[in-house]
Amino acid sequence: MSAKSEAVDLIVTNARELATATGAAARGGADLGALRVIAGGALAVKAEKIVGVGPEAEIRARFTAGETLDARGGTIVPGFVDAHTHPVFDGTREEEFEMRTRGATYIEIAAAGGGILSSVRGVREASREVLLANLLLRLDRFLELGTTTIEAKSGYGLTTEDEIKSLEVIAAARARHAVEIVPTFLGAHDYPLEFRDRKSLYVDLVVEEMLPRVASAGLAEYCDVFTEGHVFGIEDSRRILRRANELGLRPRLHADQLSQLGGAQLAAEVGAASADHLEFVDDPGLDALRAAGVVPILCPVVPLYLRIEREAPGRRMIDRGLCVALSTDFNPGSCYLQSLPTAMAWAALRYRMSAAETLTAATLNAAASLGRADRLGTLEVGKQADFVCLDVPNHRHLVYEQGRNAVLAVVKKGRVVRRRS
Ligand code: NIG
Ligand code: FE
Repeated sequence: MSAKSEAVDLIVTNARELATATGAAARGGADLGALRVIAGGALAVKAEKIVGVGPEAEIRARFTAGETLDARGGTIVPGFVDAHTHPVFDGTREEEFEMRTRGATYIEIAAAGGGILSSVRGVREASREVLLANLLLRLDRFLELGTTTIEAKSGYGLTTEDEIKSLEVIAAARARHAVEIVPTFLGAHDYPLEFRDRKSLYVDLVVEEMLPRVASAGLAEYCDVFTEGHVFGIEDSRRILRRANELGLRPRLHADQLSQLGGAQLAAEVGAASADHLEFVDDPGLDALRAAGVVPILCPVVPLYLRIEREAPGRRMIDRGLCVALSTDFNPGSCYLQSLPTAMAWAALRYRMSAAETLTAATLNAAASLGRADRLGTLEVGKQADFVCLDVPNHRHLVYEQGRNAVLAVVKKGRVVRRRS
């Protein structure tokens, strides 16, 4: 130990590999898979931030640690960022899963009063305490699976009070849990039963009452809309998202998921941070997203859950230079999945993405879609110390091996928040 060695809080040692994207902006094209991979890499952390990244001998020579974390010959990667989740609900929908295996479609189930509306009944009936307890358990699960930041949508309340209740539950969880949560208002997720015969009045309610109240209470950073033929069409979506922009809530959209409606073009027009799903996007839609710098967020497990024989053109997006992100779309209906590594494995297989590309997409690009790429998403000096130690020999194993949680330890804001014994 040299006399000039700097005292730090934590050093991570004994890793076979450290793998990370680099930079503070989303990456596309050939840059998507351009990782920095350090054999025998180590990290030094001080006051919540990364102060050193490099070969272990160099890190040990430069820093003296208060605490050492043994990576046990595994791999260190940035904490995963899940930029599309619906985690505020009470009750699950396994019967719908089974109905789909017998041939029912997502839209048929929704039209029969199931789907989103069954979760709406659950949220309306549940107390804040129950919703918060549910959410905290789900956040524990995210952390165990290596996810250190999520975007969380409301959208199962569909009254002003129940949407605000959901967002307040998110705010309460934020104050109590290590997982960083980015709140999104999704009042336009579906039409509640009481507005089925007067849909335009529900859009009025979202625009005139819900959005102003959510914005003035500072309860959301983003506003999402389920833009789809059976729910909110292009005109209604545009009206909602323009109002959101005026109130300082940046749009993100469920776009072109079940049909080619022009959701991608609308996302570009309103300056959305992301356009999500995109199974049915067309080439003009891709051009529009690229020109407007919108991050496409792909959810590769959802079509499987919905039994839709259609996949988003992931490879084509990347080759056209789009900065693709990956997410689980965790929700009780169309994807009851919290594991980003599972979504990454499916993305590799479905979209022909390399392991390196999936890692950038589930870290840096996801963080960029949440306006946090300056602070999150890579392992570089100056960034917040959010990372995961995995018991895999290299980052390629993360998508190669399925069905096991490879997380050995999770560090959030410089603190070891999970450690496998
Ligand atoms: O992302 N597409 C709309 N929303 C969710 C489904 C929510 C639900 O079925 O509860 C999704 O797939
Ligand atoms: Fe969704």
